Amino acid sequence: MRADGRTGGRAERISAVVKRTEQIADQHHYKIAVIPGDGIGPEVIRAAIPVIRAAAAINGATLDFAFLPWSADHFLATGETLPESGFIHLRDEVDAILLGALGDPRVPDHRHARDIVLGLRQRLDLYVNLRPVVSRRTGGSADRRMVHGIDLAIFRENTEGNYLGRNRVEHEGTADERWISEEVNSVRGVTRIIEAAFEWAATHRRTRVTLCDKSNAIEGQWIWPRIFADVGARYPGIEREHRYVDALAMELVQAPERFDVIVTTNLYGDILSELAAGLVGGLGLVASANLHPGRPGLFEPVHGSAPDIAGTGRANPIAAILAGSLMLDHLGLAQASRAIEGAVTRSLNGSIFTADLGGSASTADMASAILAHLSV
Ligand code: NAD
Ligand code: IPM
Ligand code: MN
Repeated sequence: MRADGRTGGRAERISAVVKRTEQIADQHHYKIAVIPGDGIGPEVIRAAIPVIRAAAAINGATLDFAFLPWSADHFLATGETLPESGFIHLRDEVDAILLGALGDPRVPDHRHARDIVLGLRQRLDLYVNLRPVVSRRTGGSADRRMVHGIDLAIFRENTEGNYLGRNRVEHEGTADERWISEEVNSVRGVTRIIEAAFEWAATHRRTRVTLCDKSNAIEGQWIWPRIFADVGARYPGIEREHRYVDALAMELVQAPERFDVIVTTNLYGDILSELAAGLVGGLGLVASANLHPGRPGLFEPVHGSAPDIAGTGRANPIAAILAGSLMLDHLGLAQASRAIEGAVTRSLNGSIFTADLGGSASTADMASAILAHLSV
């Protein structure tokens, strides 16, 4: 309607059509490969997807989820872990990968999990494993399960360290038999993860990066402090500090709120991220992004397949939902990503909780509560 009270003419109708066309052109479609995996993996992914889809719509984006069967069941039935054609599909044809969890007692040597989780990180060269650990309960008193005031990001090196697969057995079958896994710290590998940590700190208004290593005991880690100093010097506005991993483990328990960005090796990042998760409510609440700029990222909960509760409908879906938030952020859908974080925070300040948080809600109920908070 115009200011004079008469309805608009042709020019206004055309302008409305143009506006609508622009909105449609603005919409984005993303191809998401989903690997639900084993145990609670499919349960939390199934619950998370409606929340992730609804959040994407806030940014005018649509997500096309394509489910891939790779899992213990699939391996036991076919002998296939991650087929080559599947790997190429993920590398070349999708925008992101969403993974539940892999690991099943029927595969005691973890072969399929190794090929799929570690295999994708390695072969897609997803060298950043970003694990934000945040206290999301803001009201009420902190309880045993949730310490207040933590907002840290762990940058875990994701392609080398002890995980490179340089393993061998010497003198097999003799009294001198030795199982050896080498630890590799390449200048290229260490430099790029430290750069990623500082760059993320700089672009997220963080003020301190803590290097965590064990270079007092392990010679192969001597390059970490050296490269940390070199890279850090390029970021004069960001404070640098160093902790040995043993000291950091204790300090994280005693004063976790003082940490901001932590950069560390593959193995220490694995362990410390679960320690930190334990401070903010447990594994049901922490997600990770496996990244290499310009490539499809792999987004997953930090937790595993939890065989002890699989099939009971009690798994907390929040870590999977937050993995979706990290994925949306990486796809450039910042508003959608933040909407999920807000909905999770509001939910955790409410009264519906799964058993790991002391409640009795099911996986589906917890996800519905978050979905309801999304539009608030
Ligand atoms: P886990 O993370 O599966 O479980 C550890 C404990 O946390 C269990 O008591 C479990 O019930 C609980 N838990 C985990 N996630 C939960 C959730 N969402 N809600 C409520 N409780 C939850 O670790 P684990 O038991 O050491 O390993 C089980 C399997 O998972 C192993 O095969 C392991 O190799 C695999 N794993 C896979 C991944 C992955 O796929 N990225 C990660 C970690 C472990
Ligand atoms: C994780 C897991 C994996 C790891 C396992 C399943 C190989 O613990 O993602 O933290 O050690 O990286
Ligand atoms: Mn782990």
